[in-house]
Amino acid sequence: MQLVDGFGRAARKLRLSVTDRCNFRCDFCMPLHPVWMPHSEILTYEEIARVVKILVSMGVSKIRLSGGEPLMRRDIERGVKMIREVPGVESISITTNGYFLAEKAEALKRAGLDSVTVSLHSLKPERFEEIVGRKDVFSKVLAGLEKARDVGLQPVKINCVVTKGCNDDEILDFVELGRQSGMVIRFIEYMPFDGRHMWSTEKLVSGKEIIAKIEERYRLERLPREAGSTSVAYRFADGSKGMVNVITSMTEPFCGDCDRIRLSADGKIVPCLFSRDEYDVKKLLRGGGSDEEIADFIRRAFAKKFAGVETMIKTGRVQPLIRPMHTIGG
Ligand code: 5AD
Ligand code: SF4
Repeated sequence: MQLVDGFGRAARKLRLSVTDRCNFRCDFCMPLHPVWMPHSEILTYEEIARVVKILVSMGVSKIRLSGGEPLMRRDIERGVKMIREVPGVESISITTNGYFLAEKAEALKRAGLDSVTVSLHSLKPERFEEIVGRKDVFSKVLAGLEKARDVGLQPVKINCVVTKGCNDDEILDFVELGRQSGMVIRFIEYMPFDGRHMWSTEKLVSGKEIIAKIEERYRLERLPREAGSTSVAYRFADGSKGMVNVITSMTEPFCGDCDRIRLSADGKIVPCLFSRDEYDVKKLLRGGGSDEEIADFIRRAFAKKFAGVETMIKTGRVQPLIRPMHTIGG
């Protein structure tokens, strides 16, 4: 039976957070003093694979691993392999900060990873390191990107969270990188999931502004939006390789055909990123629940999925809903 919420939206994609730990400290994500989930609470790969199998039996087929930083999780390639072996899994991708990618890309590809998205918020080493709160990391991230392409992970995308006065002067530089390399550049609107309560509308650069900036130099062609996609895709009218995506979660959210379900590292089903609702599936997993019981639990949890953020955003009442990004991974 399909996994469908109260508004008729079916789940097809799983965002799977495999750890809340991260070696970076991006100010828009990590609290200054993060409290980590106890190791004993983190789902094992066996438990994860079991939930994936159950979700796949209900129509989920695309899996994205996230964190925290997913490559911080020990033997992540084993986790990828176990998910790959679940019949019905169509694609596996990963969103990573890129730091461990150079050393892990080959093993990940071998384990069955399809594609990768690397978070890169500045092309200026010093600025990048300021944003992520770590020194001497920029070149490792770039090496990770290169390695990912070398081993044939496809596509390789870049996530760039745009914030006013910080990196919004680099939009065109990112576009040039996309055009030269063929990589997809995804510009993300700053969302209020920051662990440091720094979010404000003044720091938000809207998708519209981002596109207008790019169109000062290049004409873009907007592609029809794929159902369920969080982003709008553009290609260059002059035929150049590369592509631009904007993720307008704040100014133009697409909740109406959302097809995502989330599983946190400590075994909570999170139907919507913007809602605090979460449902502890680990209790059943560790308490002898049958597959049918677990499926039923997930179905009931998902049925209560939050309608969407439109009203919340229009009324400006977003701050109280924060959930630090590192605990759920975007
Ligand atoms: N707003 C928007 N994007 C964020 N990310 C982390 N925190 C925020 C935020 N507050 C990004 C990460 C990663 C993706 C999963 O979300 O950098 O690329
Ligand atoms: Fe780590 Fe990603 Fe959060 Fe940055 S945004 S602190 S890289 S989990």
